[in-house]
Amino acid sequence: MRILAIETSCDETAAAIVSKDSSSSFVVVERSVVASQADLHSKYGGVYPEVASREHAKQILPVIAEALALSVVQANRLPDLSLSGINAIAVTQGPGLIGSLLVGVQAAAGLSLVSGLPLLPVNHLAGHIYASFIQQDESFVAPRFPLLALIVSGGHTMLIYMRDHHDYQLLGQTRDDAAGEAFDKVAKLLGLGYPGGPLVSKLARQGNREAYDFPIGLAQEDSYDFSFSGLKTAVLRQVKELPEPLTNETKADVAASFEKAVIEALLMKTAKALRAYPVADVILGGGVAANSYLRDRLGALLAHWQVPVRLHVPEIALCTDNAAVIGAAALFGDIKPCSPGGIQAKARLPLA
Ligand code: KG4
Ligand code: ZN
Repeated sequence: MRILAIETSCDETAAAIVSKDSSSSFVVVERSVVASQADLHSKYGGVYPEVASREHAKQILPVIAEALALSVVQANRLPDLSLSGINAIAVTQGPGLIGSLLVGVQAAAGLSLVSGLPLLPVNHLAGHIYASFIQQDESFVAPRFPLLALIVSGGHTMLIYMRDHHDYQLLGQTRDDAAGEAFDKVAKLLGLGYPGGPLVSKLARQGNREAYDFPIGLAQEDSYDFSFSGLKTAVLRQVKELPEPLTNETKADVAASFEKAVIEALLMKTAKALRAYPVADVILGGGVAANSYLRDRLGALLAHWQVPVRLHVPEIALCTDNAAVIGAAALFGDIKPCSPGGIQAKARLPLA
């Protein structure tokens, strides 16, 4: 089975060709094209929705053409649109920015209409989970069920228990800001730029994680939920108290102490879920999974767990938004196809 996948839920215009043998437990990426808009949005310190949808509209056809290895698009026409060898078209249906989602959904629906190929709607969060089912190297082993997935991105922070493919039990999620959003806001506060996660993380490596005692959201609460808005406010308050201008050393200490508070919250709730839902495998996904401190600390936690737990972390290009993971999600289980005229993009879309 070979799929053409399209993703436009936020600020990445992406298309990919992925495939899987019927007997295989993992997916192979044949091509993956990502046109990032990060530079366009950096001056706003976050994604500007109107700018994002216009840019998707500009990029979608060239990106699809490149994924299909077609020659350059001329006069806004896809030359020789040949979908031979492709068995289905997968597209992110939601959640995300509605104006962004619509561009990818309409492009996919159009291709499905003219080719007659089935149109498979995919939840963006399922994509972040299925990134761990993409083959990374020759020794790759796919995750086993039941498993626990920790999805940490710019829009979501979730702990999900899965007994089988596309069988999602949401254990907990953020009640306010997502972890990535908190990274982006603290980056803005420290004048670092966008997207903030990698910049805060880089700076944090030079700082002292004990310099400031920032709060760990919902630490005392008996739930698997997260909260990062109190932490963000505590960082803001602390920065206001510091003498201006902030030295690089002070910024590094703030970044390090902030990063520690975020990661402690993620580890605390993951450990709690592991005690109640014993699993052999844990999946880490979403843009924040690119964070090396999180990868190291979670790896150490699982290495010393009561029973051996295997951690699956996708390579960085598969942690942040891309279309290969959307195709990967569509290659497992039985996703019900939509009619090209009936598919609806959804800004809010719970994991089924
Ligand atoms: O999954 P993603 O590409 O888009 C969403 O679906 O939201 O995640 C983007 C988020 C941004 O908030 C970005 O700052 C964060 O992931 N991020 C990181 C790192 N790399 C990306 N956060 C912390 N540390 C990183 N190294
Ligand atoms: Zn995402």
